[in-house]
Amino acid sequence: MSPAQASFIQPGEPADLAAELADRFAQLTGHRPAAVAAAPGRVNLIGEHLDYNGGRCLPIALPHATYAALGRRPDRTLTLTSRQMTGPIEIPLDDLRPGSVQGWGAYVAGVVWALGQEGWSVPGLDVVVDSRVPIGSGLSSSAALECAVAVALAAALDVPDSGEVRRRLAESCVRAEAEMAGAPTGGMDQAVALFGQAGHALLLDFADGSARQLTWSPCDEDLALLVVDTRVSHTLTDGGYAARRTDCESAARVLGVATLREARGRVDALEQLSEPRLRRRTRHVLAEMDRVDAAVHALERADHAALGPLLDASHDSLRDDFDVSCPELDLVVETCRRRGALGARMTGAGFGGSAIALLPADDLEDAALAVGTAFEEQGWRQPGFLRSPASGGARRLR
Ligand code: GLA
Repeated sequence: MSPAQASFIQPGEPADLAAELADRFAQLTGHRPAAVAAAPGRVNLIGEHLDYNGGRCLPIALPHATYAALGRRPDRTLTLTSRQMTGPIEIPLDDLRPGSVQGWGAYVAGVVWALGQEGWSVPGLDVVVDSRVPIGSGLSSSAALECAVAVALAAALDVPDSGEVRRRLAESCVRAEAEMAGAPTGGMDQAVALFGQAGHALLLDFADGSARQLTWSPCDEDLALLVVDTRVSHTLTDGGYAARRTDCESAARVLGVATLREARGRVDALEQLSEPRLRRRTRHVLAEMDRVDAAVHALERADHAALGPLLDASHDSLRDDFDVSCPELDLVVETCRRRGALGARMTGAGFGGSAIALLPADDLEDAALAVGTAFEEQGWRQPGFLRSPASGGARRLR
């Protein structure tokens, strides 16, 4: 039997979630939190696997966020509790180092450690977190967790909230993820979690570190972006992501450039790569950079519909050249295309996770239902659906 209604994952009301988490914190620790903050998950509209290649990408922040409540302790201990994950985890602050915490706690402890390495004087802390970003969904639940903790810690330590402080928090969160959690990611997720703005996509340029807000308002053209979490668990620490990154670095070395961004416009670039795998990886990266340019021009003209074919081409290239799609992502994309999507693609690193489809707003529910039915026909677990108006970046809530 087909599902009569697609079930959408709700982001919840931030003020209510923050109040609930503060109460939970008080029950667990016996004191009120010094700060509560939230940081959003994201979808990347286009520009996939470009951040670590010096390229540009175009993510939006989701309304779904991770919440962190945090308070000082009198001793030098870090306690971590999650409403979704196992725990609590307890570790002496002075024992924090790469490898000392495993699993989800590494992302939180990593932030505390990385800010300590930056010279922050971090006291013992109780940290309690709650996530509305589906975990392991390719919607950047890790960066949301890191950034919520980083912003809450900055608030608890009375560090002023400025663009410069946020840039440093972003760097520390990337470092936490790479060195403590073992995922050598490129920085896109943390940047949008900290700098996303409602109604905008964030154009990030990893060649010079610059960022620009571009209006993203598909509803003006009666369009909407459907996000589908395939519930095929995706992780960035099992070697696939690092292997893609290494391939790109190897290709850049063969071409004699620091990053593949610098190989743009070189007509002989692909010919010079005799290794077929490196050639395919590079073909994705170079073509995706062109697609980002086209997407930026489209958004500058407020022509959201023009993104459709770019999303399609991006998916095909990630599937065929970058080898990071999977049957579930392909089925979401094909089903949405058949159901009237202007374009659809996997989003994020791939290897499971989520896909996005740009649809006439009135067709969004039907497309979600069709995806649910298609999954059922395959005997697969039902996917999760999210509506995704572009939302704001990390906030201090208490
Ligand atoms: C993950 C990483 C990002 C980026 C994307 C792919 O989300 O965290 O840095 O590389 O994959 O675009």
